[in-house]
Amino acid sequence: MLIVRHIDQVKKIIGLERRKGLTIGFVPTMGALHRGHLSLVRTARKKSDLVVVSIFVNPTQFGPKEDYKRYPRDLKHDQSLLKGEGADIIFYPTVKEIYPHGYRTFVEVQGWSGILCGASRPGHFRGVATVVLKLFNIIKPHIAIFGKKDFQQLLIIKKMVKDLNLDIRIIAAPTIRESNGLAMSSRNKYLTEKERKNAAVIIKSLRWVKRLCRKESCSAVKALRTMRKMIKNKGGRVDYIRAVDAENLTDMKRIQKGVLIAAAVYFGKTRLIDNIVV
Ligand code: PAJ
Repeated sequence: MLIVRHIDQVKKIIGLERRKGLTIGFVPTMGALHRGHLSLVRTARKKSDLVVVSIFVNPTQFGPKEDYKRYPRDLKHDQSLLKGEGADIIFYPTVKEIYPHGYRTFVEVQGWSGILCGASRPGHFRGVATVVLKLFNIIKPHIAIFGKKDFQQLLIIKKMVKDLNLDIRIIAAPTIRESNGLAMSSRNKYLTEKERKNAAVIIKSLRWVKRLCRKESCSAVKALRTMRKMIKNKGGRVDYIRAVDAENLTDMKRIQKGVLIAAAVYFGKTRLIDNIVV
């Protein structure tokens, strides 16, 4: 497994392999890897010949008051996990390499970047789309894997790929969870033991709505009101809970099969997201 820090170098190495006819699979990450990330790498391993994983804590997707500086970083640990999964190349650039002095260009998927997580995190998806497009241009993968845990991010990347005519197949991978159901996240490290236990209510309440509305449609206002109460009872502070069309993120008045319920909830200072498709 190679660790490459420079754009020119990684382009050269991957270019050679591409010209031999190998399929390039790519998993972009911000490191602090857990089983969720590793499941993406496993999918890439199955579906491609050369597996490239990027580790880059992208400053442009963090707001000024967010956790960019304290975001967990542990290359040694990530490296040993990736080796275990049979990854071939880790692309691990510096901020200067990705955003050199005078950098000015940004990409935005309009309309979908300012809602849900984008409403609470202005500029977040502009930063995500920009860095992912840059990484796609550097790695030039045939396939790229993204987790459904970040459902809005997944839709935005798919839309960008379609709108900008990129020849990359985006594969969606299921959400990997801790034993109590809590979606795995690098930010779970910030939680206290008690918060971690209580935060399982997010998926419990999502599953409750799914059971309630799967067979017969139900009122979104009523179902989400109960969900909010369930979360509040466990000490969670709801940022948003919405029922939206799983293809275009527009609000749904009634919840029925195929509708996406997406939630962002604070436990202590930690903001957690999760979702379910009914
Ligand atoms: P990061 O949060 O490190 O996540 C990298 C990838 O892992 C994303 O596709 C995310 O959806 C997926 N992932 C995270 N937790 C998961 C879980 N529990 N189960 C399955 N997949 C999971 O998302 C980002 O980084 C960044 O925004 C990035 C796309 C790298 C751009 O900077």
